[in-house]
Amino acid sequence: MTVRTVGIDAMAFHGPAHYLDMADLAVARGVDPAKYIEGLGQMAMAVPTPCEDTVSLAIAAGDKALARFEIDPSEIGMLAVGTETGVDHSKPVATYVHEHLGLATNCRSVETKHACLGGSAGLTAAMDWIATGRARGRKALVIAADIARYGLHTPGEPTQGAGAIALVVSERPRLLEYNPDIYGDYTRQVMDFWRPLYSRYAFTDGHYSIACYLEALAGAWADAASKPNAARQVPIAGLDACFYHVPFVKMAKKAHRRHWEAEFGRTLSMDDAALLEQVAASFAERVSPWLELNATVGNIYTGSLFLALMDYLRKVEEAREGRTVSVFAYGSGCGASLLFARVARGAATQGHRLDPRQDLSLRRRLDVAEYEAIMRASESADANNGQALDPSTWRLGAGVYYLGTQEHMRQYGQYDR
Ligand SMILES: CC(C)(COP(=O)(O)OP(=O)(O)OC[C@H]1O[C@@H](n2cnc3c(N)ncnc32)[C@H](O)[C@@H]1OP(=O)(O)O)[C@@H](O)C(=O)NCCC(=O)NCCS
Repeated sequence: MTVRTVGIDAMAFHGPAHYLDMADLAVARGVDPAKYIEGLGQMAMAVPTPCEDTVSLAIAAGDKALARFEIDPSEIGMLAVGTETGVDHSKPVATYVHEHLGLATNCRSVETKHACLGGSAGLTAAMDWIATGRARGRKALVIAADIARYGLHTPGEPTQGAGAIALVVSERPRLLEYNPDIYGDYTRQVMDFWRPLYSRYAFTDGHYSIACYLEALAGAWADAASKPNAARQVPIAGLDACFYHVPFVKMAKKAHRRHWEAEFGRTLSMDDAALLEQVAASFAERVSPWLELNATVGNIYTGSLFLALMDYLRKVEEAREGRTVSVFAYGSGCGASLLFARVARGAATQGHRLDPRQDLSLRRRLDVAEYEAIMRASESADANNGQALDPSTWRLGAGVYYLGTQEHMRQYGQYDR
């Protein structure tokens, strides 16, 4: 029996214990801090230590989502970890997460990859699994976890970050109900961002990647708009908020303008003063209020779209329940999806479970020398039979951490401060 209502029932974020202030990075690189803060829209970026890898971030986020929304691990029948920063060419991050969260053996577990689209790919697979009725009342856990690494002294350096967002998907969602009928897809082979198997750092043609992102947005929008009854769902005027993939905060502004241009059917120029004003007002109303978490965490690749969505849901008031939002995901290489969803009845009562600000307030601010030392130490963290990693070196709190690789097998362990 098919299921008509599917959506997000629970959500949690977990990020590294340290961050770097963007002004400190700018001064160290001889760049005007306004370029990073106003030009890119970033205030800070999360910096993971060698013990905080994709697995440990995903475990902590999954743990929080289940605990804060009171979901028993036995209710989970599918686990998908979307990531660009897998830790093995073969073994999925999901198997480590499955073990640490105590999920059932009859829970299917996979890793989904398509650069920053991986989390959304896992989410749509999970929603389809539930919609077909094969979940038989069980829920799916989707975790978008990544470490965005471009390297020291690269143009991408100020657009790094790390973190994981866990989403529980169910047929009785407490937060957001997806529209199963109106959606847009887009795929095109481009070399805008990639990471060869031998490299820890991503390669990117940054400005080209922005152009590919915007073209994919227009393509996914056109596909969504071609669906029957799309006219009732797609127009921006009827949307309460628009969420986009946020590799850096300013990207959401470029995306919202292209979103409007898709609807107008043409690109805007300086001569379109009235329309540009409309777009700017729309950005202030529908997009910028929900970018606070992205500005302080930085780029978390496949989870960054959901960080903006979480910022909205943690603040959502009762008056917004039942309203529609758009959710646009982009993954370099490239692929994109545009989905529409409605704020669930009662969502306003769930905000306190979502708020990650308490966790973020406990982060320690690094100076640039410490940040550079952590980046260098991370380069050798995956050496086989290397020195065992010690979370106390990096002043980490209690949690499950990566402890080094022995006999070619990654070691994880609970660290109790
Ligand atoms: C994003 C990226 C391309 C920026 O690269 P860059 O060439 O160093 O930066 P730019 O010169 O384009 O400057 C960035 C912004 O800051 C603005 N800026 C520059 N100096 C400034 C200053 N002193 N004060 C205020 N703003 C400033 C620029 O005008 C630009 O804004 P705009 O795009 O609205 O015009 C680069 O960080 C990168 O490659 N990142 C990784 C790839 C990525 O994130 N891609 C996104 C799509 S997936």
